[in-house]
Amino acid sequence: MATSPRVPTVTPSAAHLASIRAPLLAWYDRNKRDLPWRRTKDPYAIWLSEVMLQQTQVSTVIPYWERFLKRFPTALALASAPLDDVLAGWKGLGYYTRARNLHRAAQDIVSRFGGTLPSTAEQLLSLPGFGRYTAGAVASIAFGEEAPLVDGNVARVLSRLFEVEGLPGDREREATLWELAGLLVKGERPGDFNQSLMEHGATTCRPENPLCLLCPVREGCVAFKKGRVAELPPAKVRAAPKKLTLALAVWAHADTLLFARRADSGLFGGLWELPAAEVDEDATVEETTLRLTAALGTGVKLESLLGTVKRQLTHRDLTLRMYRVSGPKRPTHSAAFQELRWCTPAEAATLGMSTAMQRALDTVVGTQA
Ligand code: ADE
Repeated sequence: MATSPRVPTVTPSAAHLASIRAPLLAWYDRNKRDLPWRRTKDPYAIWLSEVMLQQTQVSTVIPYWERFLKRFPTALALASAPLDDVLAGWKGLGYYTRARNLHRAAQDIVSRFGGTLPSTAEQLLSLPGFGRYTAGAVASIAFGEEAPLVDGNVARVLSRLFEVEGLPGDREREATLWELAGLLVKGERPGDFNQSLMEHGATTCRPENPLCLLCPVREGCVAFKKGRVAELPPAKVRAAPKKLTLALAVWAHADTLLFARRADSGLFGGLWELPAAEVDEDATVEETTLRLTAALGTGVKLESLLGTVKRQLTHRDLTLRMYRVSGPKRPTHSAAFQELRWCTPAEAATLGMSTAMQRALDTVVGTQA
């Protein structure tokens, strides 16, 4: 069935677009932050920065980016490294799916593109972990393609400049924003232009208290003209984080503890942990014993509660309860985990572990010392 082309809800004139593009680019040249990935032309290094910046702020990313590049200086080095090493290099950044995809994409880059990143957004989109944003960022910044990008900052800037209505996540709104970004990016230095939009959103066209007095494009800003800057875009309604309680087995043998690697999918997928089982917030000792027994595939006895760690994640209120356990038979594998390993806490610290789990481990190792 033929579908009719979508009618854009916003159709800016060439003059309106021009009144934004050139001043924003000139503003960027004078005001851009001196960030390390802006001093390189290496597409791999630029790609890495864009992946890290997706859910992590600039000041946190800088040292991680530098360290990660030293450890894995090329796509080939990354592709050849064991996933555990890559996850360990990512430790503390969160959203570990990014690291797993980076690793898989590096392997694709080696096998399909001879170790060099492909140069168009279309080809980049075929790699694991590349969505429209990352493909547009790498194609424009590293290769100079007139490829648009829209992230949260850009969405806010464009919705104010062009008075785009709708809630974040609304499909019609997203389509309009991508169309606008596609119109604006055409011209000289598309990579710098895309970065000027992001930079403007990060520093001037901020969510709260935007600095309209310093704005280089306020003449072309419909929301500014109409006094609607504060109401565009409307705040996203976020679901309250769900409570998640995990019971962790602290099973000691000689100088080792039992560690487990989670399944690849879901929260903390692929990461190492003190073997964990989800329990009700008010679970009894019997219930907790059953859950840990099921997770480890062998009978365990709860000896004592060693401590509790609470962490606030974006979508979860996480509570970790660490129990010293014992059992008649020390397990070496279990269906609930990819792998079980008996190792010292120091050895475990070199495996990929979430920050929450590292806290739990620090707590119990301190307790036992
Ligand atoms: N956020 C993500 N990537 C960015 C970039 N290249 N410049 C500014 N902000 C960003």
